Amino acid sequence: MKKSICVVGLGYIGLPTAVMFANYGHKVHGVDVNEKAVNMINNKQLHIEEEGLQERLNAAIDAGALTVGMTPKQADVFVIAVPSPIRNDKTANLEYVRSATASIVPYVEKGNLVILESTVPPRTVEDVMLPELRKTGFELGTELFVSHSPERVIPGRVFEELISNDRIIGGITPESATMTSELYRSFVKGQMHETDATTAELVKVMENTYRDVNIALANELAKIAQKIGVNVWEAIALANYHPRVNVHSPGPGVGGHCIAVDPWFLVELDPKEAQMIHLARQTNDGMPAYTAQMTTDIIAAKGIDNPKIAVLGLAFKGNIDDMRESPAVDVVQALRNHDVAVQAFDPHIKTNNIEEQTQVSEEAFQDASALLILTNHEEFNLLNPADIKKVMKNPIIIDTKNCIDRMKWEQAGFDVYALGDSKNVKEHITK
Ligand SMILES: NC(=O)c1ccc[n+]([C@@H]2O[C@H](COP(=O)([O-])OP(=O)(O)OC[C@H]3O[C@@H](n4cnc5c(N)ncnc54)[C@H](O)[C@@H]3O)[C@@H](O)[C@H]2O)c1
Repeated sequence: MKKSICVVGLGYIGLPTAVMFANYGHKVHGVDVNEKAVNMINNKQLHIEEEGLQERLNAAIDAGALTVGMTPKQADVFVIAVPSPIRNDKTANLEYVRSATASIVPYVEKGNLVILESTVPPRTVEDVMLPELRKTGFELGTELFVSHSPERVIPGRVFEELISNDRIIGGITPESATMTSELYRSFVKGQMHETDATTAELVKVMENTYRDVNIALANELAKIAQKIGVNVWEAIALANYHPRVNVHSPGPGVGGHCIAVDPWFLVELDPKEAQMIHLARQTNDGMPAYTAQMTTDIIAAKGIDNPKIAVLGLAFKGNIDDMRESPAVDVVQALRNHDVAVQAFDPHIKTNNIEEQTQVSEEAFQDASALLILTNHEEFNLLNPADIKKVMKNPIIIDTKNCIDRMKWEQAGFDVYALGDSKNVKEHITK
């Protein structure tokens, strides 16, 4: 049945979700406290980058299925997709979730469903949302239904994954979960797995913690491999031929507002037990400094004075425009702390607070002592090494993501270095 849905928070998750519900016949009102974003969306302009979003937004607005404003409206369903960051002291800041919940209270009616999509520490629905929702006067779970439906999509493939991913739906009562599953069924082709709200909260945080711990392991292995002269990328590829092994990829650090953030929720919740989780966070947070040191070591070994590094990629992952918690930013800062001049480029980032940022162009490589790849944007594989070499001071490239065609750069006369590799190992050939 078609519903009226009020989506609170129109960022990377909320806007695609609002648009998706609208595209599938629901009447959606999107709300954000960011006036600029609201005005842009109303003018069919995007304040975030996501494949397919523009077309879907146009269709939703043209069909009259999506309105956007700064205050909530009465609706059958409220979906909350606001930030859930950590503070500088690594504790969860749940103020956005609390205030977004408080903002819908005047509009909630008997029989409504409230869904939290934000990733939150276990018990947030119980301890932060429900106290606000009690102010409606409705009995929670029977008169007002509440659930947590954490989002699992990957930026860049959000629409594909909104449809195909399985969803975990945690209701404060079984009825709350069932109502939520029925709503998402309007576009979700994956399975819906119903549970209670606190379990759903832990599941989501557990998923990102699993990835963080495994990336930390890969980073540790990369450092060991580098010391003993093994190419870790080749070693990982070979290890992963084992049917029950899936070693993750090392890199210059872990970014974004998920993997770099959510494990801290568990550290805060139970610092005594979350030992490995805490160590993994520290290992991954140490990678930008390690990458900067590795870069300056390579430059020093080449006897280069007053180096200028051309950093390629500021986004926290390839082919997206999101710089939140990006390790690339920390690498740039760490290099500058080493008194290394840095010019950073990212074809996906439109505005940022890093000085000297320009678009990718041959000019950007002018007089660079080395290229340092920190994000695996597809554009970097289209670069022409021979052209770039002509304008650089030293033909050196350091690939922290194992994303370039090594042979191509070597053939153009570049010295190619990679994170987790201290030698020029030829690509493993499967016979
Ligand atoms: N981006 C992802 O890939 C991703 C994936 C899975 C889960 N999540 C989780 O989803 C949640 C949202 O993430 P995001 O990336 O969409 O964040 P975002 O910062 O892109 O968007 C959040 C939006 O909420 C708005 N907002 C803040 N307080 C508000 C309020 N009281 N009322 C209305 N709007 C308000 C902000 O202005 C912002 O536009 C987070 O908990 C995040 O961890 C994100």
